[in-house]
Amino acid sequence: MSLPSARRPVVLITGASAGIGAALARVYAEKGWDLILTARRQRPLQALSDELARWGAASTLLVEDLADAEAPRRLFDAVAERGLIVDGLINNAGFSRTAGFLNTDPADHATMIRVMLTAPVALARLFAPAMVERGYGRILNVASLAGQMPATGGDTLYGPIKSFLIKASQGLHLELVETGVHVTALCPGYTLTEFHDVNGTRAEVSSAYPAWMWQTAEHVARVGYAACEANRPKVTPGVMNNVMAGLAKHLPDGLALKMVGGHAKRLKRI
Ligand SMILES: NC(=O)c1ccc[n+]([C@@H]2O[C@H](COP(=O)([O-])OP(=O)(O)OC[C@H]3O[C@@H](n4cnc5c(N)ncnc54)[C@H](OP(=O)(O)O)[C@@H]3O)[C@@H](O)[C@H]2O)c1
Repeated sequence: MSLPSARRPVVLITGASAGIGAALARVYAEKGWDLILTARRQRPLQALSDELARWGAASTLLVEDLADAEAPRRLFDAVAERGLIVDGLINNAGFSRTAGFLNTDPADHATMIRVMLTAPVALARLFAPAMVERGYGRILNVASLAGQMPATGGDTLYGPIKSFLIKASQGLHLELVETGVHVTALCPGYTLTEFHDVNGTRAEVSSAYPAWMWQTAEHVARVGYAACEANRPKVTPGVMNNVMAGLAKHLPDGLALKMVGGHAKRLKRI
């Protein structure tokens, strides 16, 4: 890691209370970073902060709900009030809804868009300018393999939101490539976290997908960290996930939609 000064770098991680976010926090702490951890639940953030102290990492906890449009600004102000400098931003918070577009409350759709699309954009816009000024920064956006696959029914907005995040990351990567600020979209496939408990599909995905399709959050986090350090615009952990993303890119749209449509039916999402 080459930093402009000798101080310890600081990374802000959204959705740090569980899964991939917590795994990323462990990897960054191990690599010598201090952390700003944010999510809605205080207790798991506190437990993670205690754990990270074993690497000598200092953690600042900021409880926020990214469904609130003002949350990114509050996070930015809270960081400034504490005199912290943010060298890394990880936009990780997220969830999916699989009940179908029409069965999902419009307020839930809006929340999904705010947490996974509007908030990452706002946070990057707030924190990136100072990174550029200092000539050092890391922005890691946790997207998904779903953002590279054909559209699916049931969780109709999830894939498009993640596609947006991938493309926006790639665009920002190009804009900042000469500045010392690295920008990477991390695109995990099925990962063992709370994600499928939260959306209530644990039983169906566990029976539909064999064990070899699942990755650990730690593996995903390590791949994401390495890709961002190497300034790769996009990374998809796992050989099979890359094969699927490659196939999806080259299949004709009609065929790809049929295949994914059949799959959504098997999962009883449509
Ligand atoms: N697991 C997978 O198979 C998989 C695959 C591809 C991509 N991903 C992506 O990976 C990212 C992390 O997911 P995960 O698998 O680690 O799921 P997870 O274990 O359910 O963790 C989700 C995190 O997001 C936070 N979060 C959710 N809603 C929030 C809100 N309104 N405001 C603030 N924080 C919120 C949660 O914290 P609180 O509940 O404490 O707020 C939690 O820390 C997501 O963006 C997801 O789309 C996951």
